Amino acid sequence: MQPPPERTAPDAENAPATPPGPPRAPDRAPGPEPAAVSTPEGTTEGPPGGAPGGTPVPAPRTGPAGTPRVTLRSDLRDSWFDGLVALVITAALFALIWARIKSRASSTATVMPFMADDPGGYWLYFLSQAFGWSALLWAWITVVLGLLLSGPRPSWLPLTGPRLERLHRTTSLNTIALIAAHALLFAAELIRHSDESDAWYAAAWTAFVESFVPGGYTSGTGRIAIPVGQAALYLAIPLGLLFYVRHRIGPKTWRVLHRFVIVVYVLSVWHTLLYGTNVWYDGWFRTSVWLLQLPIAALFLARLLSPARRSERLPALSATPGGARPLWTARAAGRITVAAVLAVLVAVLVSGRDGGRDQPPADTSSTHNHD
Ligand code: HEM
Repeated sequence: MQPPPERTAPDAENAPATPPGPPRAPDRAPGPEPAAVSTPEGTTEGPPGGAPGGTPVPAPRTGPAGTPRVTLRSDLRDSWFDGLVALVITAALFALIWARIKSRASSTATVMPFMADDPGGYWLYFLSQAFGWSALLWAWITVVLGLLLSGPRPSWLPLTGPRLERLHRTTSLNTIALIAAHALLFAAELIRHSDESDAWYAAAWTAFVESFVPGGYTSGTGRIAIPVGQAALYLAIPLGLLFYVRHRIGPKTWRVLHRFVIVVYVLSVWHTLLYGTNVWYDGWFRTSVWLLQLPIAALFLARLLSPARRSERLPALSATPGGARPLWTARAAGRITVAAVLAVLVAVLVSGRDGGRDQPPADTSSTHNHD
C-alpha cells in the first residue's frame, strides 16, 4: 500500500508527489491561541497533618473521617464507569467520522482525498481521530470539574464536593488514557503504511520517533502541531499523577505544580486547532471548538476572582506590604489577562474569524494527487 501523500491545501497548485511517511500537513501560521484557563486545584482529601511548605509526610492510611485513603489503584478501580462512557462516545464518534468520510462530507476527505477513496485502508487513522476528540472532551470535562472545585460552585449543582472531586480524578485518569490511545493509534497507522521494504522493527521505530519524539515528525504543520500534542501528553502524566505521591512531595508543592495542568489543556486545544483535519477550514465546527472554551475561560475568571480557598483571594493593594507588591501586581495581571482572553473568545465567536484555512472550491479534483 502506498504511504499517504503529504497533506496539501486542496486549492494548492502542483500538489507534491507522494513522499514516504505519514499524512502531512502544509505549513500554516498557527491560529490565535485558545483561551488560557485555570487549574483544577484542590482536593479535600489530603494528608492530615501535612507539613506546610511541602515537607514530606508519611502516607496516611485513611482520609478525613476515617474514609479509606485514595490511591492510584483505588482511583483506577473507580475509573471504569466513566472510561466505559468514554469508549462508547469514542465508538459513536468513529461511526460518525467514518460515515462522513464515506460520504466525503468530512473536511478530512478534502484535505486527504486518498483516504476517502479507500476508507477501509485508513480505519486506524479515523479511530485515532475519534480518540483525539474523546480525549479533548474528557480534558474539557476534567478542567470544568477542577474549576468547580477550586472556584465558586453554583448552588444548583447536584453533585457534592467529594463526588465532584472523585469524578475529577477519574476523568483525569481517563483523559491520559484517551490521549495515549489517540497517539498510539496514529503510530499504528504509520506502521501500517510504512514502506513495504522496511523490516517491521525499522517501521515500528520510525513510527515511534514520529509520534512520540519531539522533532521526530519533520513535515508541514506537524512539525509544530505534533510536538504541541506530545508536550500535552508528557505534561499530563506527571501533573495528573503527582496527586498520588503528594504525601511525599508535600501537599503545597503538589498544589502549586497541579496548577500548571491548565497548560496541558491549552496545548491540547492548540494542537487540535492547528492539526485536526475535521477543523481544518473556517466554519461552524471549528468555531464550535472555540465556543467550548468560553465556559472554561469564564469559570477560570470566576475561580481567580472568587477562589474557594480564602488564602488565594487577592487582597486590597493598600493592605499589601511593599515587599509583596510585585507578586500582587503579577496576580492582578493574571486576572486581567484571563478577562482579555474571554473578550478575545467572544470576538472570535461573533466575527467567525477562527483561524481556519479558507474553504476550498467545491471541485478540487484537478488539484490533487489521488495516489
Ligand atoms: C503524542 C501526542 C499526540 C500525537 C502524536 C497526535 C497526533 C495527531 C495527528 C497526526 C492528528 C491529525 C489527525 C487528523 O487528520 O485530523 C491529530 C489530531 C487531533 N488530535 Fe492529536 N496527537 C497527540 C496529542 C493530542 C492530545 C493531547 C489531544 C487532546 C487532548 C489530541 C487531540 C486531537 C484532536 C481532537 C484532533 C483532531 C482530529 C480530527 O480532526 O478529527 N491530540 N493528532
